[in-house]
Order: sequence, then structure tokens, then C-alpha cells
Amino acid sequence: MQMDLFSFDSSDSLEKIEEEIRSCTKCPLAKTRKNAVPGEGGFKRKVMFIGEAPGRWEDIKGRPFVGAAGKYLDELLASIGLSREDVYITNIVKCRPPGNRDPTDEEISLCSPYLERQLAVMKPRVICPLGRFSAKYILEKFGFAMKSISAVQGKVFRGKDVIIIPMYHPAAALYHGQWKPALERSFKILREVLDESP
Ligand code: URA
Repeated sequence: MQMDLFSFDSSDSLEKIEEEIRSCTKCPLAKTRKNAVPGEGGFKRKVMFIGEAPGRWEDIKGRPFVGAAGKYLDELLASIGLSREDVYITNIVKCRPPGNRDPTDEEISLCSPYLERQLAVMKPRVICPLGRFSAKYILEKFGFAMKSISAVQGKVFRGKDVIIIPMYHPAAALYHGQWKPALERSFKILREVLDESP
């Protein structure tokens, strides 16, 4: 049965979750990280972007998407009239995997309860998973089938209480330049979805 991600312990809060993430020692990434990266943003439009895991700059600064992929994400947001004040940005895994390797299944399963609590407390109207790990996690949590990232990116999945728009990861689109137009189109689709009920 599909889990109800939006039911939660009413004593939980974003601040409490962020504090727990910053001092978390549940997995070995705690030993190699400089800073855990809980997430941040103004969330005015109730849109949540979920990336994979912090990279080098995010680890140094303790903030999500502050490197090259973050600069591109800011440009994509600006291209549809949004800023970081409008959206919350986080990752499935909150600490940097050494050398920017992919997160392991174990790291995802130990860390994802934090994301689930963030979702439950914040109740986003629209979730934009960035990249294949995040798209698979979120689509399956809300009862949708994950095919490949290229098959699901830019599509609009309408659930009971949430709309999911999986997108290519900005870092992947910077690396594979041919994915940029699709990612830019996904942002236009997000704009259209937000305009449906402003
Ligand atoms: N890539 C991610 O998935 N998350 C970040 O915070 C930065 C780069």
C-alpha cells in the first residue's frame, strides 16, 4: 500500500529536522563530510526541488546547490520568474558521498526518513525531483512507476495531494549539453502547472 507521506507527528518541525540532520551520525558519510546539508529556501510557491546529494561546494558551505549546478538551477528558476525565495531545495542524501560518487542504497534508506519528515511538515504542492535517484525515490513513494529518467523527465504526474514533475539533474544537463533543452522545457512545464492555480 502507498505510504501517506503527508501524515506526520505534529510536534515535528523543519527546524528540528534540520538540527538533527546537522548532527546526524547514522551512516559513514558523517565521518567524511564537512557539513551536512539539510536544505533551504523560502517555499513561497510550495514547490520542492529534490536533488541527489551535496557535492564539494555544498559540503563546504552547508547549503544545497551552490556550485556550478546550483548556478544553472538559479538561472532556470529565473527563466520562469522564480527565485530561491519561492522554492525549497534539498537532497535525498544530506551528506556528500566522497569523490561525488553515487549514493548507495544503504545511504538512501538511512537518510530518506529526513526527507519524508520534511515532506510531511512542508506539504509541497509540486515536487520536482532532479535526476534519476530522486525521481525513482519520489515517483515510487507516491505510487508511480519509475522507468528511465529520460522516459519520465518533463512529464506531469498528478497524485492525490501533490504534483510531481521529474527533471534531468542540472549537473547532468551541464555535462550532457544535449539534455539542456529538455531541462529548460521542464521548467516551462512547471511554470504552466503553477499558473493553473496561482
Ligand atoms: N547536486 C545535488 O544533487 N545536490 C546538491 O546540493 C548539489 C549538487
